[in-house]
Amino acid sequence: MPQQVPRLIAVFALIGAGVVVARTYLVPETFGEVGHYRAAAVDSIVRHEKKFAGHQECALCHTEVAERRLQGNHRGVRCEVCHGPAAVHVAAPLDVKPAAPRERGLCPLCHAYNPTRPTGFPQIDPVAHNPLTPCISCHDPHHPEPPVTPEACSACHGTIARQKAVSPHATLGCTTCHESPEAHKTSPRTNRPGKPAERTFCGACHAEDAPGPSHIPRVDVATHGLPYVCWQCHYPHFPEAP
Ligand code: HEC
Ligand code: HEC
Ligand code: HEC
Ligand code: HEC
Ligand code: HEC
Ligand code: HEC
Ligand code: HEC
Ligand code: HEC
Repeated sequence: MPQQVPRLIAVFALIGAGVVVARTYLVPETFGEVGHYRAAAVDSIVRHEKKFAGHQECALCHTEVAERRLQGNHRGVRCEVCHGPAAVHVAAPLDVKPAAPRERGLCPLCHAYNPTRPTGFPQIDPVAHNPLTPCISCHDPHHPEPPVTPEACSACHGTIARQKAVSPHATLGCTTCHESPEAHKTSPRTNRPGKPAERTFCGACHAEDAPGPSHIPRVDVATHGLPYVCWQCHYPHFPEAP
């Protein structure tokens, strides 16, 4: 018998013994009872202290606030998002009171400008938007609304407005290209403004025979960039000639 065979047998025997020892002493007792994990883990997780009560609980006592919230713009923002986990408060309402975030810090977590947020999500610049005054002195946190109808498109479309302001299209008003019903400013999602649909729309200023000052660059609209619409190559709020 070659020398290495008993050595190999010894190595495998050691590994086998190791596995047996590990299975006997290291695998938790309830492992495998209900699947490939420790069954007792379920009990220890269930025993964790409950921290959130859920908004239905709050409505039992704070009926008025709860109903008001459901009618307003914060209907999708649950109570404990702002007030923090409040199960302890539900158990002993008079002894423990949840925090009410009255400072300016909370609201910008969701409402500060962030270009990755969806178009039209209400966003403000927390440094420039009525600084030094708490948000709740002008907006009811349970039923928030802009206290006045915004004058400018930039109140809600700040990112687009700021891009356009430093672009070659800076002098063009938003309504030059978007016919916007007045009701869009109060119910924006149900009253949509128009958007340019045809290449000829841009051609009104950029075609070779278009009227207007000579500093506006011209292209042959009949051939330039065909077959695509202009804004597939030029971002209309910051057009560039690549
Ligand atoms: C069993 C009734 C009850 C339930 C359920 C309950 N609360 Fe209260 N809550 C109270 C009472 C009572 C007060 C104290 C009112 C007072 O001091 O005027 C209070 C006060 C508050 C306050 C005021 C704190 C402040 O600084 O003024 C907040 C905020 C609050 N509750 C939030 C919640 C939230 C969020 C929930 C749900 C997770 C909830 N409550 C569930 C009874 C309840
Ligand atoms: C967007 C954040 C936000 C949400 C969501 C919210 N709250 Fe509040 N809540 C506040 C702030 C901020 C105050 C302090 C208002 C003040 O002092 O005028 C407050 C105050 C309160 C108060 C005490 C004073 C009052 O206005 O009656 C209660 C009670 C309360 N909230 C309960 C609730 C309940 C119940 C819910 C869910 C139905 C809820 N809140 C959802 C931010 C929020
Ligand atoms: C967890 C995220 C979140 C927090 C925190 C939050 N909001 Fe909101 N807010 C929303 C959502 C979601 C809407 C509804 C947006 C929509 O309809 O597109 C909204 C809508 C609003 C609107 C309505 C704007 C409009 O033109 O319709 C105002 C004003 C507002 N919130 C103010 C506040 C204030 C003030 C606070 C702090 C007390 C606050 N929000 C905290 C998520 C939040
Ligand atoms: C002095 C009053 C005042 C204060 C304080 C204030 N706002 Fe406003 N807010 C307004 C007015 C007025 C508008 C209407 C739009 C405009 O003209 O800018 C508005 C509009 C908004 C909008 C709606 C923009 C949109 O897309 O519809 C949001 C969101 C908002 N505010 C959040 C906040 C937050 C968050 C704070 C605190 C950091 C705050 N506001 C503080 C007066 C105020
Ligand atoms: C009160 C806030 C608010 C004001 C003020 C506002 N908008 Fe909007 N706008 C929105 C919201 C919200 C949407 C919908 C975004 C979505 O659902 O994707 C939107 C969508 C749009 C769209 C896209 C429509 C589509 O079908 O894709 C255009 C274009 C637009 N707005 C232009 C304007 C112009 C121009 C003005 C100024 C005259 C203006 N908006 C003022 C909130 C506002
Ligand atoms: C030169 C014409 C032009 C001007 C000026 C213009 N837009 Fe647009 N806008 C367009 C075109 C074209 C589209 C369609 C782009 C697409 O479908 O990809 C568009 C799309 C949009 C959209 C929806 C898509 C998006 O980018 O979120 C919004 C919102 C919008 N514009 C708002 C505005 C606002 C607010 C202003 C003023 C600050 C403005 N636009 C100025 C031409 C213009
Ligand atoms: C109301 C007239 C008008 C309309 C409509 C218009 N533009 Fe313009 N455009 C201008 C003006 C003014 C300039 C800036 C000329 C200058 O640089 O002096 C410009 C500049 C440009 C430039 C050149 C940018 C550069 O880097 O030099 C492009 C590209 C452009 N626009 C594309 C478009 C597209 C795409 C549309 C349609 C969505 C459009 N324009 C609609 C007036 C218009
Ligand atoms: C397939 C992409 C594409 C499309 C679609 C397109 N363009 Fe262009 N555009 C370009 C490129 C690339 C340039 C820069 C090179 C050149 O001048 O041809 C340019 C240049 C321009 C210029 C500047 C010309 C100058 O002399 O500075 C204007 C204005 C312009 N385009 C307007 C338009 C208009 C209006 C439309 C729609 C009718 C349109 N473009 C469609 C790609 C495109």
